[in-house]
Amino acid sequence: MSKRQMKRILVTGAVGQIGSELTMALRERYGNDNVLATGRKTKPTETLRNSGPFEFIDIVKPETVEKVIDDYDIDTIFNMAAILSAVGEEKPSLCWDVNINGLYTILELARKKEMAKVFVPSSIAAFGPETPRENTPQETVLKPKTMYGVTKVAGELLGNYYFKRFGLDVRGIRYPGIISSETLPGGGTTDYAVEIFYEAIKHKKYTCFVREDTVLPMMYMPDCIKGTIDLMEADVSMLKHHCDFNFAGMSFSAGELAAEIKKHIPEFNCIYKPDSRQAIADTWPQTIDDTAAREEWGWQPSYDLPSMVTDMLEKLGKRYEGGLLA
Ligand code: SER
Repeated sequence: MSKRQMKRILVTGAVGQIGSELTMALRERYGNDNVLATGRKTKPTETLRNSGPFEFIDIVKPETVEKVIDDYDIDTIFNMAAILSAVGEEKPSLCWDVNINGLYTILELARKKEMAKVFVPSSIAAFGPETPRENTPQETVLKPKTMYGVTKVAGELLGNYYFKRFGLDVRGIRYPGIISSETLPGGGTTDYAVEIFYEAIKHKKYTCFVREDTVLPMMYMPDCIKGTIDLMEADVSMLKHHCDFNFAGMSFSAGELAAEIKKHIPEFNCIYKPDSRQAIADTWPQTIDDTAAREEWGWQPSYDLPSMVTDMLEKLGKRYEGGLLA
């Protein structure tokens, strides 16, 4: 196993919720010109477009990926392109295609071109109803009931296989629901925990699509970005796991989140109308044991529910005031 450092980075899904902020953090750390942002269709924001290179590619079309890898002399890939859980249930075939065939394309190109590192995100969706829901262990039952979850388990196994079989340094985290103020998530089950902020500021009310007592593991974006980069920069000899790290920030119910927002916006009113996403949420853990991440690469989150809510409202409030959001 080589210990090569990341120098020329490709981010797929760079227009998405995590990809957009990850790209900016990587550009700050590794130099703007060394981080190529890519997307499939959605137009990049000006910030993304003007701070470094951007190209349109499609990870299910290997030739489009290979071209940018060669053109930009890429040695590291963060594969953030994915179809999330709720859209995955509407379009299971597309979900398989992007999350599995797309991932296979990325891993194969990385193997052939002897890249330094690849990041492959997994998710709490890798778990299922047979998994213990409290303090979910690192090693546990993985029998997801969504197509998204199926692709995430397969992705973890595939990444671990490439590490062992081909010596490709693939790493990954089981992300919880990610809360952020820059780019909205698209098509996930945990999206309510982001939408609620926009609606609370704009309309002082929100209709939440899961029950008030629904508890899920969540994390604030700054912690997500820090953990992702920390794992990728960790000394490989410290890692016993590779593509399947449990990763915890905070856990709260939808009702607790609404109550915390209400402390800042007293008129805020949240009502609950569960839809089909409730059934997905009910199969996922409530709290996560991330001891392995803490021990192997020093993971430690910084934000809890009150500090996350304060920061989200401040950041979003400023964007509304500055006319950046309508
Ligand atoms: N946030 C994702 C989703 O809800 C979970 O990985 O689909």
